Amino acid sequence: MEKILLIDDDEGLIHFLRRFFERKGYDVSVSFSGKAAIEKIGVENFDLILLDYKMPDLNGIDILIKIKEFQVKTPVIMMTAYGTTELTIEAMKRGAYDYLLKPFERKELSRIVGEALVVNRQMKELVSFPGPTVSVESSPHKSSLQIIGNSKKMQAVYKFIGQIAEKDVAVLISGESGTGKELVARAIYHHSRRNQKPFITVNCAAIPESLFESEFFGYERGAFTGAQRNYIGKLERCDGGTCFLDEIGDMSLSSQAKLLRVLQEGEFERLGGTQTIHADIRVLAATNKDLKKEIEAGNFREDLYWRLKVISILLPPLRERSEDITALVNYFLTRFAEEYNKSPCLITENTLKKFVEYPWPGNVRELENCIRRATILSNGDFISDEKFGFLKSKDDHFLQNLNRNQVMDHLKIKLEDILTEILECSRQNIHANIIEMVEKILISRALDKSGNNQVKAAKMLGISRNTLRQRLKKFGQK
Ligand SMILES: Nc1ncnc2c1ncn2[C@@H]1O[C@H](COP(=O)(O)OP(=O)(O)OP(=O)(O)O)[C@@H](O)[C@H]1O
Ligand SMILES: [Mg+2]
Repeated sequence: MEKILLIDDDEGLIHFLRRFFERKGYDVSVSFSGKAAIEKIGVENFDLILLDYKMPDLNGIDILIKIKEFQVKTPVIMMTAYGTTELTIEAMKRGAYDYLLKPFERKELSRIVGEALVVNRQMKELVSFPGPTVSVESSPHKSSLQIIGNSKKMQAVYKFIGQIAEKDVAVLISGESGTGKELVARAIYHHSRRNQKPFITVNCAAIPESLFESEFFGYERGAFTGAQRNYIGKLERCDGGTCFLDEIGDMSLSSQAKLLRVLQEGEFERLGGTQTIHADIRVLAATNKDLKKEIEAGNFREDLYWRLKVISILLPPLRERSEDITALVNYFLTRFAEEYNKSPCLITENTLKKFVEYPWPGNVRELENCIRRATILSNGDFISDEKFGFLKSKDDHFLQNLNRNQVMDHLKIKLEDILTEILECSRQNIHANIIEMVEKILISRALDKSGNNQVKAAKMLGISRNTLRQRLKKFGQK
């Protein structure tokens, strides 16, 4: 259960927040004074701290500094009725995750808290690899993720991570979708000298360009319509830490120019700002695009490419290291059995053989999802091949020889199969919005398959691009 600490002397607000978080299933602790809070932080670990700026005994910034001394990775959200720019800027520079202006709405509270908890999990979840391991801080409270696979190709990757993690340089991680780029980025962070500083992930493809720049570089009041206050961007909040730029191939040219300057000079300006900001940031970037081709097409700056490319890791697709598949299967079987509180399901030698031979176009992510699904559906017994739909249906040849009506029939049968299973799960009173869930998965798969090309993805799903956009907006992805 995730633990939240509330620090505020306003009993009414504490009462509201306590109920709000307890209903969502969090473990809530409360301190009514700064001194009491500091005592608590010295002995207990938290996943998130909400801190009032104005306390009777100590001021919020002093408490924030203390928190950061004890629990540097725990996100702190400042709550303040005094929304003056200087205070919030000061707090953000001192490592606050974000701030809430009182009185705040539940929606805003949920959003910021949700994001902060994701960051907390990412920063605290250790990633280890079976290589020339540099010792990693150990935390009894947090699980650790392992990079699995002992093939020659992966061993070379581990060796490389070991060599470069501690060097304070930018790294470009490339490889097909689902090969473990983000996992490797996090392993580098955990083995780097900056592992006690923030790690921030920014997905360059997930948000539109204009929003990306303001989120990333921050902005000053009046920079654009609606910019009513100064805003500290992720880059500035990450000072001293590591920034993981996912899908860097989708970054706009203007952002690329600014990023290059951050890499070269360690400086940038907020949008609409004239003051130069200095930030000490290590950049890890990932892409599944061929950046050379992007350069030729005029979408990627060559100078940035060379700058990033100095240290680059190419992750091999799973089909080129099929000797790792058995270990991965066993790892996921054990992990998901624990996660879903079931005994691990079993796979016959014959199925395993098929797994090893299958080309896994979605790489480790596809394998992971496949075992997750099997675990959810199984009762701890052998899983038959039929449960692994792809082992039967991956017969492209078979599909190619069908006419449109036959393909539609085939599709209907497949859908009915899956949907029956889904409805079977949802009979357990889980109150989930199944239609929305199905839509979300379909859309994200289509986007994955089309390399995030919305036009192609919409076509694949037989809907208009507008409908796709509306859905993405609804799901908060764009
Ligand atoms: N070698 C590995 N051992 C264990 N788990 C792995 C390994 N490689 C990848 N995974 C898991 O597979 C999933 C996909 O990995 P990740 O998100 O790092 O891929 P990616 O290369 O960033 O993919 P994309 O380009 O689609 O973003 C994650 O859940 C990750 O934990
Ligand atoms: Mg990724």
